[in-house]
Amino acid sequence: MTVLKLAREKKRKITMVTAYDYPSSVHVCEAGIDIALVGDSVGMVTLGYETTQPVTVEEMLHHCRAVKRGAAGPLLVGDMPFGSYEVSPEQALQTAYRFVKEGGVDAVKLEGGRTRTEHIKRIVEGGVAVMGHVGLTPQAISVLGGFRAQGRSVIQEAGAFAVVLECVPAVVGRAIADALEIPVIGIGAGPHTDGQVLVYHDMLGILSHPHHQRMAPKFCKVFADVQTEVMKGLHAYRREVEAGAFPGAAHSPYAMTPAEEANFE
Ligand code: KIV
Ligand code: NA
Repeated sequence: MTVLKLAREKKRKITMVTAYDYPSSVHVCEAGIDIALVGDSVGMVTLGYETTQPVTVEEMLHHCRAVKRGAAGPLLVGDMPFGSYEVSPEQALQTAYRFVKEGGVDAVKLEGGRTRTEHIKRIVEGGVAVMGHVGLTPQAISVLGGFRAQGRSVIQEAGAFAVVLECVPAVVGRAIADALEIPVIGIGAGPHTDGQVLVYHDMLGILSHPHHQRMAPKFCKVFADVQTEVMKGLHAYRREVEAGAFPGAAHSPYAMTPAEEANFE
């Protein structure tokens, strides 16, 4: 998948899933997903932060490199973390260059609408593809018309090749997707956007201990129950080791001949 190809994909549904390391990257790639996003959600689902705010550029690049090694097919997008682009368009471009050169990404993503147009423009002029990321609070929905105009003139005209639209009613998702020429990739934005994105750990049921801080959001369908399988495996291992049942003969492959054994003793 390339940025150019993706720009022409408005007619069909685009799939995007986050990936944070080599295994998740291989999985996303093997599943034929169009876009692998190294999201700053990495901070919450793999590093245990309570928000995405503490995530650093160095942490993002570390994860981008791992995902890069596993994802041959999907377009690779890296999230520029909080504090790494807001200061100025120059800061944004410098950070974007690091993501390309040190992280190996095809494109960067940054959050924000009107306040980020200069940043997006500068990065695109500098030669790096940008995915926008906007959302709406319920209060802002009454200004739908205004938002449509803003969406069209702001993110798209700044040069973004696609935009993530997070947590808006389906009717807003449809309106934005209709208004824009670039693909609109929704998360909690209803079925009418040009594509969908979900967080790997949420959609696969990887972290669903009831007491854990990370619960899949309401809009996220949980397509697998990985945690149950993981816990089954870990509990079985513990039981077998404690009972002396593992390793048995089948998993003790380093045999000696009787002669060697006698010699060893
Ligand atoms: O960080 C992330 O995972 C994201 C997606 C939710 C779009 O930005
Ligand atoms: Na993000």
